[in-house]
Amino acid sequence: MTGTDKVGRWDRRQALVGLGASSFSAALPQPAFSANDQTLGARAARAGLMFGTCIEQEVYEDPVYAALVREQCTIAVNANAFKFDWLRPTGRQADFSGAERLLDFAEDASLPFRGHALVWNDWVPDWVKALSKSEVETLLDAHIDEVVIRYSGRMQSWDVVNEPFAPWDNQPGQYRKGAWYDALGPGYIERAFRRAAAADPKARLVLNEAFCERDDDLGRTVRPALLDLVKRLKDADVPLHVVGLQAHLQPQFAFDDAVYARFLESLAAEGVDIYLTELDVDDSSLSADLNERDAGVARRYADFLTAALSVAAVKAVIAWGLSDKYTWYRDLARTAGTLKQRPPRPLAYDPAFAPKWAWIAIAEAFDARAKSVVR
Ligand code: XIL
Repeated sequence: MTGTDKVGRWDRRQALVGLGASSFSAALPQPAFSANDQTLGARAARAGLMFGTCIEQEVYEDPVYAALVREQCTIAVNANAFKFDWLRPTGRQADFSGAERLLDFAEDASLPFRGHALVWNDWVPDWVKALSKSEVETLLDAHIDEVVIRYSGRMQSWDVVNEPFAPWDNQPGQYRKGAWYDALGPGYIERAFRRAAAADPKARLVLNEAFCERDDDLGRTVRPALLDLVKRLKDADVPLHVVGLQAHLQPQFAFDDAVYARFLESLAAEGVDIYLTELDVDDSSLSADLNERDAGVARRYADFLTAALSVAAVKAVIAWGLSDKYTWYRDLARTAGTLKQRPPRPLAYDPAFAPKWAWIAIAEAFDARAKSVVR
């Protein structure tokens, strides 16, 4: 961003801050569009994209936030409620009430819903860790059957496997350790996809991974591991339709737009679509000055989305929250004891639901793609 740009953008931001929650549409920039066109969802649609957010209990506890989600989004995903440890925290018997409530909200708002995530080697409850390998194998099948059949026809997509890789676990192939991997080896991945496809032939099946945008040792290790896995699954005719890339952006690590775009193109060459599934910007390494910090967050959104959206196979951009009021980084900051001095500002809207520079950066990246020839 040049100095002049920065001033221009700052002026526009001044027009955005301090808005009442009811006036989002009317007060957003660029009167060239009708009020309804002034949403991220509408601007994404013109670029051939879905735009959405993760949702959790805030959508039924906070009507103003719920209205913002309905207004801005064209797709939603659970932050937690459909995860294994949320459905079955203490034993095999699942409690679907939290998950159900989110899906009801999404359906009432006409938002296609993504289920996240069927199998993840992180956050496995203790009772599973106490099972034998063959019991874990049976449980994997039974879990997928029960959950996917129950919601068959209602899910736009399922994250079938989340975060298969964790180089720090020092496994062959860089696989993440955990109950499912320990019982079944890397074969748990193929097994889960085949099982999910049989249970809901219509849902798009997603392999979701983190860290791929990082231009450091971790990113350089995870990218080829993921690409190789996708190739092997596709070669074996496994029903894999989409690669999800989380994109919890971390400005403390380098990002190389050409490397990232090339990586996305090589995934796309395997015949999958790409969703950016958990977009936000960790602002903990940025300036303490609020304006500089917001500008830094916006800049990282702009750099990342400019590269990612140049790839036609990218079909969805899903933010990990819309407002800084409900970001998971608040919980992390609370645990770290930094929440009071430095509330995180990783998302498009501030805690009072006023759009920030980040909103403009995301909207402009959608507009640029809409004008380009990638579709
Ligand atoms: C996070 C949720 O947002 C938090 O509320 C929860 O405490 C932990 O999980 N990668 C993922 C998501 O795939 O499921 C995580 O969500 C964020 C990192």
